[in-house]
Amino acid sequence: MLHLILGSRLRAAVTAVLPDADVSDVLVRPAADTQFGDYQSNALMAAAKARKLNPRQLATDVVAKLDVADLCEPVEIAGPGFLNFRLKPGALADVLASAARGEHLFFAKATPETARTVVIDFSSPNVAKPMHVGHIRSTILGDSLARTLRLLGHRVITDNHIGDWGTQFGMLLIGWKTLMDRAALERDPIGELERIYKAVNTACKETPDTLAAARAELVKLQSGDTENLAIWHEMIRLSQVQFDAVYGRLGVQFDHTLGESFYNPWLKALVDDLVAKGIARVSEGAIAVFSDGTLPPKSDPLRVQNREGEWADDPLLVQKSDGASNYATTDLATLDHRLKEWGADEIVYVVGGPQQPHFNKLFHVFHRWQPGASARVKLLHAWFGSILGEDGKPFKTRSGDTVKLADLLDEAEERALKVVAEKRPDLDPAAQREIARKVGLGAVKYQDLLSNRQSDYVFSWDKMLALAGNTAVYVQYQFTRANKVVRDGAPTLGLQPSAIRLTEPAESALAKHLLHFGLTLEAAADDCRPNFLVNYLYELATLFSRFYDHCPVLKAEEPARTSRLILCDLTARVLRQGLDCLGIEAPEVM
Ligand code: ARG
Repeated sequence: MLHLILGSRLRAAVTAVLPDADVSDVLVRPAADTQFGDYQSNALMAAAKARKLNPRQLATDVVAKLDVADLCEPVEIAGPGFLNFRLKPGALADVLASAARGEHLFFAKATPETARTVVIDFSSPNVAKPMHVGHIRSTILGDSLARTLRLLGHRVITDNHIGDWGTQFGMLLIGWKTLMDRAALERDPIGELERIYKAVNTACKETPDTLAAARAELVKLQSGDTENLAIWHEMIRLSQVQFDAVYGRLGVQFDHTLGESFYNPWLKALVDDLVAKGIARVSEGAIAVFSDGTLPPKSDPLRVQNREGEWADDPLLVQKSDGASNYATTDLATLDHRLKEWGADEIVYVVGGPQQPHFNKLFHVFHRWQPGASARVKLLHAWFGSILGEDGKPFKTRSGDTVKLADLLDEAEERALKVVAEKRPDLDPAAQREIARKVGLGAVKYQDLLSNRQSDYVFSWDKMLALAGNTAVYVQYQFTRANKVVRDGAPTLGLQPSAIRLTEPAESALAKHLLHFGLTLEAAADDCRPNFLVNYLYELATLFSRFYDHCPVLKAEEPARTSRLILCDLTARVLRQGLDCLGIEAPEVM
């Protein structure tokens, strides 16, 4: 968009003044304070400093070579060398006109050369355990990232790395064979699996026999016993059915669901290779990767500081003393697979904050194992904080249990239905329910994406369903208003983009904000921060509301009428597209 055009013109001007300068950092960004202009660049100060030039003089020389008169008023130099750009109304109108002609929606798609292959590892619940609110964050954040990157033209591969292997299956197998209530299993499979798991787990703590029996079942499973394998498959299938029900409601899809067990065939050779390369070694009967001492202890993921402040080893275990591999071994194999089979340029792990040590170690050990491959891929642990109850403690039900995701979504829809029924008694019940579904699920997602992912947030029904303020309902409602005007005015909206005239301040404020959509999408995608997009949409909804309150649309005289209709249409399209990137539906009516 315009900041890109201004940026490339500015780079050309810098090159004209300093022919051998590296101009890759010379960028133009939206102005932090719009009273000084619409866009700004701070890049010349750094360029001047690097060459010991007077920054103001450099700015003056660059501006003399800068050719932006078709887009901006004369560029102003401020302070020690900031450049301020103020758009000409005609330039703004031209961008809107090209969007109205359908040439773009204020963002640029990646080309085949610039498109990246990004694997997103998210949701990843564990078999035989209900998905709880912790998984909701991963699911919602990961889905939003996938949607945004896809919109920007990247090749996205989503992979649900479900926990379908591990020691818990020994206990589950005992439970299945001795405690299972068939009827309960049919009604609520994961609930029943969870019940038998808990019962056996308690029994194991009390009687060593049960523990030994659970170990024996696990060994049988791992060595390919037909009966145990069949039961294990059934547990995965039943869990998957319930996971899929939740994903269906949330509108989340995965390209792959390669659980931990998928990687079993490669683990033995992987550990052997680590040992052969001198990266892992035997320690107390187990095999682990220790620090190689090349990093200062502070930034070495394989070292920890104890209470006395001394540094100790914190190795990555890749094989337990009983010969079994673990979560880390599987994750190394998974990483290798994603690079070799899918040619990933980037892998994003959307997993909670407590797993930071695991991913730091994983990325570090992978780098030592495959330095070449590691240099070609960007690995990101996009971690997130917890959901808290209104008491500031981890979010729980009244009885102190973890909140199940399915129950939470039911409650969201029910609460939204109450509001809709009250506001729109004229609609029939089915229509009310459909709006309530979009509003309720939208509210849960929006609240989850609203704050910086790394901070904890307090789960609040009242806040998330408030009709005013930074909520999904508010943005959805402004969308319906914009959309309705367009529908009502559409027969006369003969797309005459030349008719765009931005005379009122509320019109140009809205128009300028539309132009920042692409920049926001990029920022949200770069570091998995959908909160940028959420806040952008809220601002857009607010600016639209202000415009709509101040500027009549259908009752205005031409050419203002068409011009404003186009503005409404573009706003509705950006709001719809932006909400879609958050996985939130935009209702036609509310
Ligand atoms: N199943 C794990 C859990 O619930 C999350 C897996 C995340 N992905 C990964 N590649 N480790 O904690």
